[in-house]
Amino acid sequence: MARLAVIGSPVAHSLSPVMHNAVFARLGMDATYGALDVRPEDFASTVEALRHSDYVGLSVTMPHKDAALRISDDVSDEARRVGAVNTLSFVDGRIVGHSTDGTGCVRALEHHGVVVDGSRCVVLGAGGAARSVIVALATRGARDVVVVNRTRDKAVAAIDGLDRCRVGTVDDLAGAQVVVNCTSVGMGTSESPVPRESLREVGCVLDAVYFPLRTSLLDDAVAFGAIGVDGLWMLVYQAVEQQRIWFDHAVDPVVMRDAALAELARRGNDPTL
Ligand code: ATR
Repeated sequence: MARLAVIGSPVAHSLSPVMHNAVFARLGMDATYGALDVRPEDFASTVEALRHSDYVGLSVTMPHKDAALRISDDVSDEARRVGAVNTLSFVDGRIVGHSTDGTGCVRALEHHGVVVDGSRCVVLGAGGAARSVIVALATRGARDVVVVNRTRDKAVAAIDGLDRCRVGTVDDLAGAQVVVNCTSVGMGTSESPVPRESLREVGCVLDAVYFPLRTSLLDDAVAFGAIGVDGLWMLVYQAVEQQRIWFDHAVDPVVMRDAALAELARRGNDPTL
């Protein structure tokens, strides 16, 4: 049996097991996906023990994304540019590091008919998730990527070494074709990271926050006529990309999304309410 897991601490809240196991069940695969709560000091030895076992790979979450980059024998171009690894695959005993969040973002946009190539993009936030999205947009033909963050210095660091990127302000939202929120503002609250009026001329907003599914940011943008893409699409599509890496196959994102929505509802956190 092929084994996979999310490795992090904490991991109990992760939706990855239900999403990936739903795919295995749908396809009748002899594979299972679990959750490993591992402390930072045990990360390297755990991965070392798994690389020669029946584990095919791992999803890596907080606080191990930097350590995952360091432990990788080979690193994808994207993960190298991002400077962090959220997916490991074990290939002939070698540890290969990947970054799938940025691809997840771009494919979630494409799912909604939004084209990145040639578009003016704004990324809100400058943390790890933001860096993945900035790299993905900048390397997939965005005309420019403007990074807006509460702490300006972090925005400067987030675009380090990347072409067609600059640091900006909320004024840059005017006329932006693609806006991606990578701040945590709006998670579990009705706050929005930007003033409502700043969204008047925006083409599309993807909010990486997925609880609630309909954030105030999305509500405001959609009210002005923008396309709204919720964060569960990005989460699902980064998992679709992981399945491509581990098994070299294309899976139905709706199977994963339905499984995630059912799990959230089961926990009493139905995000569609
Ligand atoms: P992740 O790994 O999910 O990207 P992170 O690295 O902690 O998480 O980044 C969180 C992002 O949300 C940062 O851009 C942070 O802004 P700062 O760099 O100024 O800290 C942003 N953020 C968090 N809380 C915020 C708030 N109340 N207002 C504005 N931005 C906020």
